[in-house]
Amino acid sequence: MTPHNHAKLGDYAPAVLLPGDPLRAKWIAETFFEAPRLVNSVRNCLGYTGTWKGKPVSVQASGMGQPSLAIYVHELINVYGVQSLIRVGTCGGLNAKVKVRDVILAQGASTDSSIVKGRFGAFNFAPIADFGLLRSAADKAEAAGLRFHAGNLLSSDIFYHADGFAGYDKLPEHGVLGVEMEAAVLYTLAARFGVKALTICTMTDCLITHEEISADERQSSLTEMVELALDVAVES
Ligand code: HPA
Repeated sequence: MTPHNHAKLGDYAPAVLLPGDPLRAKWIAETFFEAPRLVNSVRNCLGYTGTWKGKPVSVQASGMGQPSLAIYVHELINVYGVQSLIRVGTCGGLNAKVKVRDVILAQGASTDSSIVKGRFGAFNFAPIADFGLLRSAADKAEAAGLRFHAGNLLSSDIFYHADGFAGYDKLPEHGVLGVEMEAAVLYTLAARFGVKALTICTMTDCLITHEEISADERQSSLTEMVELALDVAVES
């Protein structure tokens, strides 16, 4: 159907989870979905549709970074009619109050990305989550007893900074909780096309304390986050 996605119209459910990693998309489909069906494998950027608790849901890998995610999300919305997009990922910590394994609900996403900044001229657009999805995720995270924070994430286009940590220090000073590479453009596209979006991240490595998640903790944390995201998705 598109150069990046061979799914047919109707192959995606109205709500889609978006991990970056294609193998995580496969794991989510095979671990959590009832009757998972592969709907896209172009470039091995895997997409699946199935059901969760009897309700239709999809997962589509976004790849790493905002340009890659923007392609998949643009097409999911405008070609496949997807209405709710929930990124599930990991992030680096920028605030000592966020511990590894904690879940961050990205209420807003600051960014250095020209994809977002280049669109608004003199204005600084504030990419924000859909309030209904955010409220639902916060309520469910609280009920499940998860340690979670709602606030601002940084969506950076750069993983390896030439100047190391330079520049990031101003962000924790303004309450930014963590850094990942996709949420801001997801929120910007959702706003542009009038659909809902949320980003949920597990903090896996703290840039302040250098604490890192263990392999075992990573798996159980991802399970909790995916179950939370699926519960939000099928009710959206
Ligand atoms: N930077 C950007 N993205 C990330 C990081 C990070 O340190 N950790 C996990 N995702």
